[in-house]
Amino acid sequence: MIILDGKKTSADIKDEIASEVKSITLSGDRPPHLAALIVGNDGASLTYVGSKVKACEKVGFDSTLLSLPESISEQELLNKVYELNNDDKIDGYIVQLPLPKHIDTQKVLMAVDPKKDVDGFHPTNFGKMALKLPTFISATPNGIMELLKRYKVSTEGKHTVVIGRSDIVGKPISILMGLKTNPGNSTVTLVHSRTNNIEDLIKQADIVISALGVPNFIKDYMIKDGAIIIDVGITRVPDDSVKGYKIVGDVDFENVSKKSSFITPVPGGVGPMTIAMLLTNTLQAYKN
Ligand code: GUN
Repeated sequence: MIILDGKKTSADIKDEIASEVKSITLSGDRPPHLAALIVGNDGASLTYVGSKVKACEKVGFDSTLLSLPESISEQELLNKVYELNNDDKIDGYIVQLPLPKHIDTQKVLMAVDPKKDVDGFHPTNFGKMALKLPTFISATPNGIMELLKRYKVSTEGKHTVVIGRSDIVGKPISILMGLKTNPGNSTVTLVHSRTNNIEDLIKQADIVISALGVPNFIKDYMIKDGAIIIDVGITRVPDDSVKGYKIVGDVDFENVSKKSSFITPVPGGVGPMTIAMLLTNTLQAYKN
């Protein structure tokens, strides 16, 4: 069994980006600049955005964090989005999700200039991804593909079962794994809450990608011997630590790892890769 080490791979990618930024700034140009818009005070979202900003500083990017009150109206938020679209000093930006209930998320994401949409959430970029055209691919699915690529995991002809059909993970990764690419070229089954025989399907999978958010859902008896396991679950479970919680994946790692050929740990698997891919997209937006 080989652990797909997202922490190390992410650090490698950040080193590569940092050295590229260094040569950009040494030649007298300004560094890439990422902005993040966050609405409200959700603890997990603040933590994620904080890590994104910190990562920018680490690789030498400029970063701007725009923290907006929970009470902001949809129109006021749209105006901020338009400001960022028109700000030549910002190469790319993200609108941290989830947004408060009184705001139409899709409307806000559609207002983001696709050229600055380093999250890859705009329909233009999602469509380009599906058509295998150069674009910004969202951080989590892109991070999974990059991890498979760097570990030279063979996916061609394999049966991939994706669990969960969210717009930002399940749906895009099911498309990417089926594209005529390497990694990719696999036969994809997307299972979700209305699938009748989830366990039968998981048992047939050569590759399981779980983005469900149910701690320890995947047990060793559910998977094939030698399966490749990608755990995208990040659930906060209360514990006695100083933080008061720990992060738990969808996979019963201790037992499933013994039966698998490759597996991502949680934490330290897909999670750190997402930030590395956001930085990669921002560098690309800068170059574009
Ligand atoms: N919320 C959870 N994941 C993400 C992400 O990748 N990007 C943004 N903007 N919000 C998120």
